Amino acid sequence: MITRDKLAALDSVDPLAGFRDRFELREGTLHFGGNSLGPPPVATAARLAEVIHEQWGKDLNRSWLIHDWVQMPARIGDKIGQLVGAAPGQVLVTDSLSINLHRLLAAAIAMRPDRRVILTDSGNFPGDVYMAQNLSRSLGGRHEVRRVEETAVEASIDESVAVVMLTDVNFRTGRRHDMAAITAKAHSAGALALWDVAHSAGAIPVALDAASADFAVGCGYKYLCGGPGAPAFLYIAHRHQAAARSPLSGWMGHASPAAFELDYQPADGLRRHLCSTPAILGLAALEVGVDLLVEAGIARVGAKSAVQCDAFAALIEQECPGTFTFVSPGDPGQRGGKVCISHPEGDAISQELLARGVVHDLRPPDVLRFSIAALCLRYVDLWDAVQHLKAIITNRAVTRGSRPEAAHA
Ligand SMILES: Cc1ncc(COP(=O)(O)O)c(C=O)c1O
Repeated sequence: MITRDKLAALDSVDPLAGFRDRFELREGTLHFGGNSLGPPPVATAARLAEVIHEQWGKDLNRSWLIHDWVQMPARIGDKIGQLVGAAPGQVLVTDSLSINLHRLLAAAIAMRPDRRVILTDSGNFPGDVYMAQNLSRSLGGRHEVRRVEETAVEASIDESVAVVMLTDVNFRTGRRHDMAAITAKAHSAGALALWDVAHSAGAIPVALDAASADFAVGCGYKYLCGGPGAPAFLYIAHRHQAAARSPLSGWMGHASPAAFELDYQPADGLRRHLCSTPAILGLAALEVGVDLLVEAGIARVGAKSAVQCDAFAALIEQECPGTFTFVSPGDPGQRGGKVCISHPEGDAISQELLARGVVHDLRPPDVLRFSIAALCLRYVDLWDAVQHLKAIITNRAVTRGSRPEAAHA
């Protein structure tokens, strides 16, 4: 039996407990929304003020060199690399996730010119599928975006596949793919693997190098707490950097941007995937969130998230037995940092939870998604959130039962 006291005891020995105060969290709010938008780190406002007043304001254009703005996409990329299991020199921060997906998918397809299939699953984030479909159209419609069931991906990889394009943790269900096994299968069939790590980066450990991933993309506004619309990142394994060409040949990715030559010559390595002038304010804000996660250590964050996911799922069953259907897997090895439940009245329950300050989100038609961002959540928050859930369910049952027509139902 889980009690609030037992959870409070876990908080009292939690080595990550102090990080919660380094985020701006409103009193009375329980934050289970990190997979939509992470909360602002307290230090972000001061960091932005410093960049605006001490760098941009004082040194204007010279700041690109004096304050090393030029290096920010790669510098912050290397820090994100520590969170996603990538050795230095393979992660670059730029643009948005969807733009980076377009960029890397195009590069990967060009590296497999004789193949015509982009393999994905029916649980993938729709925006990723739209990007692939449109890329296929713009390449003359010769590529098929093939969708298979989530559990059928490995078995569906054959020698027609150019790229296996998947999201590591399903945005709706929290189910996690076996990145290493699927990537190995892709490689054995001669295909490349492109992973969207939007729902895992910063929440749980990701091991891009260890899984031999070829390409990956992720965003900055969820668990990395870079703020709304924060720049995203891309990963290209060292072994592909010489071959991977960007379809977006902007001046910042030129071998000598300051030479202003009229013919495009890609820069070596990752830098050729920069297209435009980097968004320095966005990068500065993102670095604050990333620094917090690096300081906490992603292994510790992931370990706490796993314990909290288990406790939260067990508490829902303990306090509201049989009320919800678990959409996220029960097996911790298959679950990626969130607990997702469904209920026929999910929409109404979600509205009531929000009114009570339990920040989470609803994914159609009726899935309540609770993201477990270990730096922002206390163990007792799990208890308090479930008590709100229980009160809502109980009140709804009472209201329904008091309606005269319900007595005859
Ligand atoms: C799994 C996943 N992939 C891609 C995206 C799209 O990212 P962006 O809006 O940065 O292009 C999202 C957005 O929430 C997402 O959850």
